[in-house]
Amino acid sequence: MPATAGDLRRLQRDLDSAARTLRGTGSILIISHIDADGISAGAIADITAERLGKDHTVRFEKKISEETVEAINSSEEDIVWICDLGSGYLSEFQRDGIIVTDHHVPDPRWRRKQTVLDSFSGIAHLNPHSYGMDGSYEVCGAGMTYLLSKAVDPSNTDLAYLAVVGAVGDFQDSNHSGLTGMNRTIMADAEANGDLVVDMDLRFFGRETRPINQYLQFSSDPQIPGLSDNAAGCLQFLDSLGIRGKDGGRWRVWDDLTREERERATASILELVGPEQESRAFGEMYRFPNMPARTGLRDAKEFATVLNSCGRYDDAGTGLRICRGDMTALKDAERNRADHRKHISSAMSYIRDNHLLRERRFIQWFDAGSEIKETVVGIVAGMVLSSGDCARNIPIIAFADSDDGVKVSARADRSLVDRGLDLSQIMKTASELVGGYGGGHTVAAGATIPSDQKDRFLDIVEDLVSSQVE
Ligand code: C5P
Ligand code: C5P
Ligand code: ZN
Repeated sequence: MPATAGDLRRLQRDLDSAARTLRGTGSILIISHIDADGISAGAIADITAERLGKDHTVRFEKKISEETVEAINSSEEDIVWICDLGSGYLSEFQRDGIIVTDHHVPDPRWRRKQTVLDSFSGIAHLNPHSYGMDGSYEVCGAGMTYLLSKAVDPSNTDLAYLAVVGAVGDFQDSNHSGLTGMNRTIMADAEANGDLVVDMDLRFFGRETRPINQYLQFSSDPQIPGLSDNAAGCLQFLDSLGIRGKDGGRWRVWDDLTREERERATASILELVGPEQESRAFGEMYRFPNMPARTGLRDAKEFATVLNSCGRYDDAGTGLRICRGDMTALKDAERNRADHRKHISSAMSYIRDNHLLRERRFIQWFDAGSEIKETVVGIVAGMVLSSGDCARNIPIIAFADSDDGVKVSARADRSLVDRGLDLSQIMKTASELVGGYGGGHTVAAGATIPSDQKDRFLDIVEDLVSSQVE
């Protein structure tokens, strides 16, 4: 159900109230998530607090663990502003002065507590699900944080492009080959500033930085028959269209092609992709014209990957510097991106070469053990699902070893969500039944469970999936 005018009025009222709280406070502890959306959100909150002249600190967290809850409950700052995290764990917080700008499915226990006791627990909870919106694709954590920043000061609209990075980082554009809902209002702010240009283009990854042959070769979601994973085929393809691969010895990138070359190549690629996949292959792409050319910061998907390459490898600080416009961080960020690329590529080979993916009736799963970082296993699970090498009509569950047990990541095709699947609820229920905790979104969710509970957990997940999906 779309948000009504009343929902939007309520949201604005609550944003204005939280904005007043921020303006009036002494000190702020900002806690945000380590993924692209979380770093963008953390940066928006950081810059907002800085512009208000408040004492503030930023901390990035992998998840809301017991330690994070303890840090929030015992913090000395007047306000704890939690971004892209928190909604799933509201009932754990036991202090006043909490602001949550998040988009995860909210903790149902907290809602019950609120209605039964009707007591204001000191949490300003700003989440799209409370205002008739779907947080998995209409607005992200950075988007909610941005809306609060804008309520604090309308001149903070120069931060809108960071919310676009967050949304793309969370794949909110993958549904309709473009952003929808509240994300479009945020996009309009970024376009009005001249920070964002929307292109109708192929939606493959790397149009600003990947050599054109690799841009074609590594295309996935959807695959281009004859070009994906076919190096020789890509060179031949360019040749047959009379498109030079190199300029003065240097590989050209997709964005270096002339408009006429791009149009010609696009038409041929869409023909190869076929009419059924065309709407996935072609659509809106987001460009930041003020960012330096040939860097990973000019295209929203690439920018998000740069941030993921920092945050998911314990270097969210570099991602934050990038979002703050500190171009001296670019070298570190690009090195992180190269390391991330290697880790992902060896993770994909590891799964393929060892035939790790197992199919059951209603789910498929793999256990990466300690071969894939727990912060990256979700990205890999998503890539396996969209690689074309496995069934898309059942969810994928992935395990990776973690300090406090086993990290679980779950991903599904959106068509399953349309048929009733809610991975957030499944991760929460199944993990709690085996002594863990979890949550997330309908299409992408996660959990942490005890190491000896994987089999029982899979059984429960499979039961829940079969009961949800019609
Ligand atoms: O915690 P947060 O909401 O920011 O993370 C959402 C996660 O779900 C991201 O890592 C994003 O990449 C992933 N996702 C996905 N496929 C989707 C939607 C989200 O892998 N269709
Ligand atoms: O870690 P992963 O990318 O698989 O997480 C998918 C989604 O599930 C993210 O939005 C993440 O914040 C959420 N999640 C959660 N609780 C957990 C683990 C993941 O809400 N314990
Ligand atoms: Zn998010």
